[in-house]
Amino acid sequence: MTYFRCPASLRARLGKVRPELSRAGQQAPAGVASRTRVRYCSVMAMDRLEELRRRKAAAEAGGGPERRERQHREGRLTARERVELLLDEGTFEELDKLVRHRCRDFGMEKHIVDGDGFITGYGHVNGRPVCVFAQDFTVFGGSLSEANAQKIVKVMDLSLRNGCPIIGLNDSGGARIQEGVLSLAGYADIFLRNTLASGVVPQISAIMGPCAGGAVYSPALTDFVFMVDGASHMFITGPDVIKTVTHEDVSKEELGGGMTHNQKSGVAHFLASGDAHCLRMVRRLLSFLPQNNLDDAPLRATSDPPDREDPQLDSVVPEQPDVPYDMRGVILRVVDDGDFFEVQQHFAKNIVIGFAHLDGRPAGIVANQPAHLAGCLDIDSSVKAARFVRFCDAFNIPIITFEDVPGFLPGTNQEFGGIIRHGAKLLYAYAEATVPKITVITRKAYGGAYCVMGSKHLRTDMNFAYPTAEIAVMGPEGAVNIVYRRELTGGDGPDKARKAKIQEFRDRFANPFIAAERGFVDDVIEPRQTRPKLIRALRLLENKTDSSPRKKHGNIPL
Ligand code: HXC
Repeated sequence: MTYFRCPASLRARLGKVRPELSRAGQQAPAGVASRTRVRYCSVMAMDRLEELRRRKAAAEAGGGPERRERQHREGRLTARERVELLLDEGTFEELDKLVRHRCRDFGMEKHIVDGDGFITGYGHVNGRPVCVFAQDFTVFGGSLSEANAQKIVKVMDLSLRNGCPIIGLNDSGGARIQEGVLSLAGYADIFLRNTLASGVVPQISAIMGPCAGGAVYSPALTDFVFMVDGASHMFITGPDVIKTVTHEDVSKEELGGGMTHNQKSGVAHFLASGDAHCLRMVRRLLSFLPQNNLDDAPLRATSDPPDREDPQLDSVVPEQPDVPYDMRGVILRVVDDGDFFEVQQHFAKNIVIGFAHLDGRPAGIVANQPAHLAGCLDIDSSVKAARFVRFCDAFNIPIITFEDVPGFLPGTNQEFGGIIRHGAKLLYAYAEATVPKITVITRKAYGGAYCVMGSKHLRTDMNFAYPTAEIAVMGPEGAVNIVYRRELTGGDGPDKARKAKIQEFRDRFANPFIAAERGFVDDVIEPRQTRPKLIRALRLLENKTDSSPRKKHGNIPL
């Protein structure tokens, strides 16, 4: 074809002769010679191609060079750059690039950008399909219009119908103020899809700039939230409005910065040092996950032997019951290649959660952390672990629990804050889960926390205990204070008597054998054998089926 070699003079002449023929491929007039006819159509097609290219280039230019420059100056990539980095090279297929907003108020008719600032489409991550949307802050601050909400809804529906993860790269001032209820309606449409997709396809949100209003509520409905340190913020409303309403002075960073939500509020699950790091972490997370709730997570090749024993584990638990140790050390020694991807590592450090592989099979790990608050369960750690357990259960990921917990954290703060209902969430989550569940008690399993942390009674498949395990209603000191309160107050030598009673309790309960005699613990194992024991159990449980009574849905304590 000679589309691009057609001389300008001919193009001009044809335009004059037959201006009424404006569409490429239309029948050329009878009088036009056949050779000219071909060229005529070619010219029309070329014009169309040029228009297409011009429109697509306009969409790619987003809010213009100045705003793109501002984005870069602030250390943030543009939406398009982010999508390219997230996806496997050359796999992105963009949709709705030519969608335009339909607002004609407040002078908006003069500001129309093809694509309306949202980039949506699909591509591959680690060779597997995903749907993606990215908000372009350079176009009306990445705000949500009626038109670009429909773009998001379209890719969410695609992800749901085709069973692939949906990833949102968020950088948005929330509802587009000029569009009023139309943008609110757009958000509600998205929230509905977030909810319907929950537990069906993994939903991942990366917060990569200042996000407010609906731009934080949709991520809150998704499974995992990533933030970029220093560059991203999340709040329902910013410092200015707070100042007006509550007279509080607070900076953007303090109110909704990456560390605030990773450490204080627990809204976010991961903190990245920059955009590129964040997108690499998203790719890594996806490598542990199945495509949808009917799929299994991919296996990963490993050279770590399944029968590898680790003698160092025999001495990892200190002899003194009150001496802390780092439970992460146990996890790293047990999982494939010492590779553990921790989730919410800055929040509620008294419990550790994350993903790993065992003989190539993905697993979710939940572990009390004696190195922080003695591994107590409190409000934050209960909620953190409960949501993780429910995610693993929804997506067929086996749950392995390492337990060393002295009980629930006592105190008015916890009681007034609702530890009863929050702790109940974790209990509910473990009891509800039907995926393979394995628990290893390394040291303390006291009180209600024994029941909660994947006990046999909550239909856990395999319960192992180290010889150092202590399974009791409470620690010996607390038990003696209550049971022998009367005998031990006053009188001669109450200290000596107390010590004796404490020792008696310790001798009786500070071991795993009573539980093992009842079958509440399936096997007391040598710590060095933890990896092979877990791997063999996981093999057995690979085709596990279990179910719960039919119901519309349960009513988890909130
Ligand atoms: C239209 C918006 C916008 C919005 C920002 N812009 N937010 N345009 N609708 N919601 C535009 C600005 O006018 C500006 O345009 C450009 O985006 C960049 O904004 P700046 O303010 O210059 O950026 P920055 O200083 O970085 O501040 C970012 C920000 C701030 C913190 C997000 O813009 C802000 O507070 N925006 C409003 C946030 C908000 O309250 N949204 C409504 C939430 S209600 P120019 O042309 O100058 O580049 C909501 C309800 C949903 O979402 C339902 C929830 C359940």
